[in-house]
Order: sequence, then structure tokens, then C-alpha cells
Amino acid sequence: MSRKVVIDTDPGIDDAVAILFALASPAFEVIGITTVAGNIGLTTVTRNAGRILALAGRPDIPVIAGAAAPMSRKGFDTTEIHGDDGLGGVSFPEPLAAPLGGAVEWLAETLLRHPFGSVDILALGPLTNIARLVRGHPAAAGRIGRIIAMGGAIDERGNIGPHSEFNLAADPEAADIVIRAGLPLVLIPLDVTRKVRATRDYLALLRASGVPSALVSADLIDAYFQSTTGGESRPLHDPCVMLYAERPDLFGVDGIALTVDVGDGVDAGALVRDGAGATVTVAMRVEAAAVLDLLAARLTA
Ligand code: BDR
Ligand code: CA
Repeated sequence: MSRKVVIDTDPGIDDAVAILFALASPAFEVIGITTVAGNIGLTTVTRNAGRILALAGRPDIPVIAGAAAPMSRKGFDTTEIHGDDGLGGVSFPEPLAAPLGGAVEWLAETLLRHPFGSVDILALGPLTNIARLVRGHPAAAGRIGRIIAMGGAIDERGNIGPHSEFNLAADPEAADIVIRAGLPLVLIPLDVTRKVRATRDYLALLRASGVPSALVSADLIDAYFQSTTGGESRPLHDPCVMLYAERPDLFGVDGIALTVDVGDGVDAGALVRDGAGATVTVAMRVEAAAVLDLLAARLTA
């Protein structure tokens, strides 16, 4: 049985691999891709979502542009990691369909139109669209089946500040709203995503298949190797969201009471263990070899 999912995303190298996985997996029926500024500006991430769908031969799936900026702060410049085009310069076809606008309203209408609990959200970027949905359309937000979001660092060091991770640091106020909203939320933090790593051998395995989704994924991860120095492997952050959605049994979760640092310091957006905070389901453990096998199996099929 496949689950209906909306992917909320800012593609982004690892977002692209995650989207290709979701499109290849029978576990998901992707009913739309909503975009949010994050890894790069809104126009580019929206175009990238269309390019990924064109490559996968799925121009029937709508792309709906969402928030162009965080709730109340300035966004980051991340071209060093994801390249000027957000996809590491990897070659993609142009979109075959024009994007729509108004992601938050589209999400609300979609959730209200489908049976209660039947649509999941797979969130791969800053949580701005989701926070705006919670604020502006609480009845629709209450109909979400599951929301699985890549974000945060619990015991791991951060990748923005000492304890803050990009997706939450890009819009701390949005993260705060979503974490306090009481949604059926599962967070996938760096504690898990840094354990799911692609090596050069893994890229060779993807390439040997000759399958377009696998070849492009290998090129994307290769671009990630080029843009970052040191180490024999690269973490596959966003694909972990889809991997959890398909096989939660391969992850271990804890209920952790959390608040979000919404200050102006270097750790804005950091998750803070706080008994007075909201208890959130957080993935803290993963069977890394098994999820990497699943990712490769889907991309190369
Ligand atoms: C997250 O930040 C982005 O750059 C990646 O796409 C991922 O969603 C990892 O911290
Ligand atoms: Ca992302």
C-alpha cells in the first residue's frame, strides 16, 4: 500500500536524491512538491524541483512555490555546498510544466480535500511553509497523517552553530512553531543522518546500474564530494526522511522534550533538551547499512 505524500523541499543536492528515491519507491504516491527558500533562493529551488520531475518523467506531479524567505530573518547563502544552481552543476532537463504559486494555501486545500490522516508531509528544508500552514490553517494542519522532517542536532555537533543545524537555523521561528504545534512529527536530526554515508564505492555501485536516477544521484553526491574537503564519505541527510517513512523499523526513536533557541546568537535554531518543552519523536539510531541498501535498490531498479 502506498502512502500519499507531499514533499516540502529546497533542492539542494541531497533533496534531489531524496526526491528521486521517493519517486522510485512503491511506498509513496507523491501528490505534489512544495518549495521553500533554503539551500538557494525560491526561484532556483522551484525550477530544480521541476527539473528533477522532468528527469524522472513525472511532469504530472505539481510543483508549488512557497515561502521566499524565513518568517522573520534573513536567509543563508549556501552556494559553496550546493553550487550556483543548487544542484552542484549536475546536468538536468528543464522543467516540462510551469510551477504553481501559493504552497501554503495548496497544502491546506489538499489536506482538507483528502480523508483525515491520509496525507503525509516529508519535509526536507526550512520549516517556513509548515509553520505558515499551522498558523494560517490549523484545521488543515491537524489533518496531516505524519510529518517527517530532516532537522536539528541533539547530541551531535551542529553544521551551522555549535549545536544548530541548517534547516532549523535557517528559520528558527518556524521550527519553534512546528515543534510546539503538537503535530504527528518525527524529526530526523544530524545524529542519524551523519551515520548514513555514501562512499566512493557506493557511487560506483549506483553508476554500475546505468539507471538514470542512480547515475544522476551518483553525480549529485560526487558534486558534494567536490564541494567539501576531507573524509572518505558524505552524509545523505534528506534521503533519511524517505527511508524512515518507508522503513521506520530500521530506525530507533526516542521521545525528547525540546525547545528551539530563537535568540540572536550563533546557535539560533538549535534544539535544546528542556523538560518544559514539547515532547517530540526523534530518530536517534539507524541501521545504516540496511537503509543504504534500500536507497541503492530503489535508485537502481
Ligand atoms: C540539511 O541542510 C541542507 O543543506 C540539506 O539539504 C539538508 O536538508 C542538512 O543540515
Ligand atoms: Ca534540504
